[in-house]
Amino acid sequence: MNNSKGPINPKKVVEKGYDQVAYDYACLEGEIKWPRMQWLKKLLNRLEPNSSVLDLGCGSGDPADIEIAKKHKVTGVDISQTQINLAHQKVPNGHFIHGDAGTVDFPSASFDAVISFYTLEHIPREEHGSVLGHIYQWLKAGGLLLISMEAEDYDDVMGDWLGVPMFISCFNPEMMKRLVIHEGFEVLETAIEIQMEGKTEIPYHWILARKP
Ligand SMILES: C[S@@+](CC[C@H](N)C(=O)[O-])C[C@H]1O[C@@H](n2cnc3c(N)ncnc32)[C@H](O)[C@@H]1O
Repeated sequence: MNNSKGPINPKKVVEKGYDQVAYDYACLEGEIKWPRMQWLKKLLNRLEPNSSVLDLGCGSGDPADIEIAKKHKVTGVDISQTQINLAHQKVPNGHFIHGDAGTVDFPSASFDAVISFYTLEHIPREEHGSVLGHIYQWLKAGGLLLISMEAEDYDDVMGDWLGVPMFISCFNPEMMKRLVIHEGFEVLETAIEIQMEGKTEIPYHWILARKP
């Protein structure tokens, strides 16, 4: 990530960026060793069949929502229409919404679990607390949260991602964990997982938590 300060409209940058790179991002699936399915398994092992799961920043739905939809009801939200179109194709029995995870709304206690992989870092970090607060409201009591984001401290920076300008914003892992606890969650497990993207090692912070 090349760091240079200050995008004008981060949501537009991300929307346009993922509309452009959705197909290239999908190709990374075979190229990178991803830890996400091991983490997803930890969550799915705790769910009753036919649970309701929300995926914020669902991308194409491949592979997480494909797996979830085998036994559960899945709703995905993504800011990129191209990603949503792919998700409709890949997960025909999923329910997908073109929207912003920062402003989308659902009734209280709608979901048994909410996941968001590799997405929060594309949302300005001053919104992360309110996104977590909304998730808390949308979860049923005992509901689960599983999130991953870059394990870095980026204060709204612009970089290059798969050849397009991309916005990145995230708190360091300790601060992120504190935000999750502050919004009322009980943290069950956290880890930093290193992923190789090309020749670059990128650390990602994973948090599995529960609404008491
Ligand atoms: C790195 S991809 C991750 C996709 C998928 N979660 C996965 O595990 O492969 C990030 C996704 O988040 C979406 N995204 C970024 N900001 C968003 C926002 N504010 N609201 C909804 N989706 C967003 C992007 O369009 C993109 O599809």
